[in-house]
Amino acid sequence: MLLSLQRLVIAAVAAAITVTASPLVPYEQKPLVGELQRPESSDVSEAASRKLTGKFLHITDRFYVPGSLTDEEACHHGRGNAGYLGAPGSECDSPELLIDQTFEWINKNLRDKVDFVIWTGDSARHDNDERIPRTENQIEEFNKAIADKFIEVFSHRSAHPDETLIIPIIPNIGNNDIMPHNIFEKGPNRWTEKLSHLWEAFIPEEQRHTFVEGGYFHTEVIPNKLAVFSLNTLYFFDSNQAVDGCAQKSEPGYHQMEWLRVQLQILRERGMKAILMGHVPPARSADKQAWDESCWQKYTLWLKQYRDVVVGGLYGHMNIDHFMFQDSKDVDMDSLMNEERMAPFVTENNYENFTIESKGSYLSSLRDLWADLPTPPASVLEGDWSISDSDDDLDAAGKKKKKKSDKKKEKEKKKKFFKKIGGKYAERFSLSLVSPSVVPNYYPSLRVIEYDITGMEEVPTWADVQHNKAGKKDGQWVDREIEIQKKSKKSLIPDPPSKKAPPGPAYSRQPLTLLNIAQYYANITKEEKIKGEDAVEDGSSSKGLRVNYELEYHTQEDDIYQLHDLTVRSIYNLATRIGVGDTTSSLSTETENDHTDVDEINANEVEESSKTGNNKKNNTTKKKKNYKKNKTWKAFAERAFVGYLAYEEIEDKL
Ligand SMILES: *[C@@H]1O[C@H](CO)[C@@H](O)[C@H](O)[C@H]1NC(C)=O
Ligand SMILES: *[C@@H]1O[C@H](CO)[C@@H](O)[C@H](O)[C@H]1NC(C)=O
Ligand SMILES: *[C@@H]1O[C@H](CO)[C@@H](O)[C@H](O)[C@H]1NC(C)=O
Ligand SMILES: *[C@@H]1O[C@H](CO)[C@@H](O)[C@H](O)[C@H]1NC(C)=O
Ligand SMILES: *[C@@H]1O[C@H](CO)[C@@H](O)[C@H](O)[C@H]1NC(C)=O
Repeated sequence: MLLSLQRLVIAAVAAAITVTASPLVPYEQKPLVGELQRPESSDVSEAASRKLTGKFLHITDRFYVPGSLTDEEACHHGRGNAGYLGAPGSECDSPELLIDQTFEWINKNLRDKVDFVIWTGDSARHDNDERIPRTENQIEEFNKAIADKFIEVFSHRSAHPDETLIIPIIPNIGNNDIMPHNIFEKGPNRWTEKLSHLWEAFIPEEQRHTFVEGGYFHTEVIPNKLAVFSLNTLYFFDSNQAVDGCAQKSEPGYHQMEWLRVQLQILRERGMKAILMGHVPPARSADKQAWDESCWQKYTLWLKQYRDVVVGGLYGHMNIDHFMFQDSKDVDMDSLMNEERMAPFVTENNYENFTIESKGSYLSSLRDLWADLPTPPASVLEGDWSISDSDDDLDAAGKKKKKKSDKKKEKEKKKKFFKKIGGKYAERFSLSLVSPSVVPNYYPSLRVIEYDITGMEEVPTWADVQHNKAGKKDGQWVDREIEIQKKSKKSLIPDPPSKKAPPGPAYSRQPLTLLNIAQYYANITKEEKIKGEDAVEDGSSSKGLRVNYELEYHTQEDDIYQLHDLTVRSIYNLATRIGVGDTTSSLSTETENDHTDVDEINANEVEESSKTGNNKKNNTTKKKKNYKKNKTWKAFAERAFVGYLAYEEIEDKL
């Protein structure tokens, strides 16, 4: 009864508006709620008159730090806690100030420039200060305080009775948002219930039940085009003693994976795309395994099968800026089919101590993984992924004629290489991007991610749908969900993309492809230095302290990363440059292994020459080229720590 009424309302809405031709024509597009028209801007609120900007904010981790309010000693425990807490000559500042100012900065600089906010968890402080144990109430309060901040910044200026938020905000449960930390029982439990209230403004009404059951949900951030999935990674998390992976039907991780596949299948059928996000990333290297192996295995397989749907994965938790691949070659189909628990990939996790050493060693383990990846031939590294003959001809016409045999050789190399990486879109891999945190071990940071909205400039937004109150599930999709669920009970492996489906947005540039990360940081050491003296004089350390975020790097414009976009194959190139060292255009795999000593010597010389001024400059051109061989790795390592440490300071910890 309720359903059919809903359908009626939707049909009425759909009939009353003109159907706009979408330039995005996925192979089987079936909109959920019918095409919506953007409302006339005169009578509607601010939010409903906004268009997409092609940017979203990713913010994560640790809005509170232990002991910082009361315990001066705790504020001064060394460099690991950054200048903000340990600034020489000043008292410990309340991190509340940092939070307030971060939100103020977002309000001023980002509020009107982003389409949605991805917030990957850990609002409450860490549970690692025994002198000030956390209480359940505290954690709830922290979570509420942060949720309120988001609502405050991203709601209407003039109170509007029907709508609160101007854009969707997608929260996620962090391992410190619960108590005891890391322990999260099968739902429904008191935390999924508490959080479903605290996050009422963020979780779509029709998803609330799902959230209370499992702590996960999704939001259509661009109606009928893009959904963001907030995964409950605590059910995948290796350190959660209350659950046991994703292999067995009794486990909540298993059910979450089933939910994910059903939803991704529905999105495929609707011609939609998905961004997956969560707190704990699927880290898996010789040094660190964050997820239970069976969860990692399923996730990697799902991403392979839904490679036409998933735009990318965004995570937090680890506090260092980096990325990781999920390699579908590592999927063990036999174990998956047997639905048995799986032995961990690594037995010793070295990461949990939060030291620079453990992080450095983890970064090195990633580098080792990337060094072992098939090395792209020179032309691919330069960004030429094509192997068609016509392209070769064009090339020959435009540039100096290469010898025919060279061209042929290069083509063979490319073909071989593509075969190893799952074709010219590198579809063997999927990608997870990990953002560093707000309240830092290093500098506070956040990132703005740009994505392609070509052809979507005028599409109805999330706010339009809120305004029209039409975002309910259509009955046909409810029925379809049940069908897919039934089918997935028989087949353990999700269907791959249709043969006629083009590569997804993670693999080839198209609408919704992630394009760029603008990584911001606040140099609080600098701010404290500026204000420090005044503060000491008037006896208050925090008065007038400003937290100002500035650009750390921008992946598209960056000379070092040189990323045209964030497709898997672009990042693949970056990873191999980090792994085996930079080369100039004359990259050749064969000579990669014998440059070590030369590099070291030259690096010192170059540093010296830059110290002593210009007089040696003319002589060092060649040496600089060699120095550049590790340039990308160095940048990557420094950026992992948000530029807080110079490479020289981390070098021996890597
Ligand atoms: C963390 O550090 C302590 C002391 O430095 C050490 O005993 C412990 O084994 C470390 N834990 C891990 C997981 O590395
Ligand atoms: C931050 O500010 C301090 C003090 O002014 C300065 O020494 C340091 O180089 C700055 N770091 C970055 C990454 O901007
Ligand atoms: C470059 O990286 C290699 C490891 O691949 C290392 O042995 C060498 O010392 C590095 N060179 C410089 C100049 O950092
Ligand atoms: C370096 O080269 C510039 C021209 O490129 C020249 O003017 C300058 O004198 C040279 N310096 C040295 C130290 O050779
Ligand atoms: C350039 O390098 C050579 C050999 O390394 C050295 O003899 C010469 O003095 C250098 N020239 C300058 C201008 O530094």
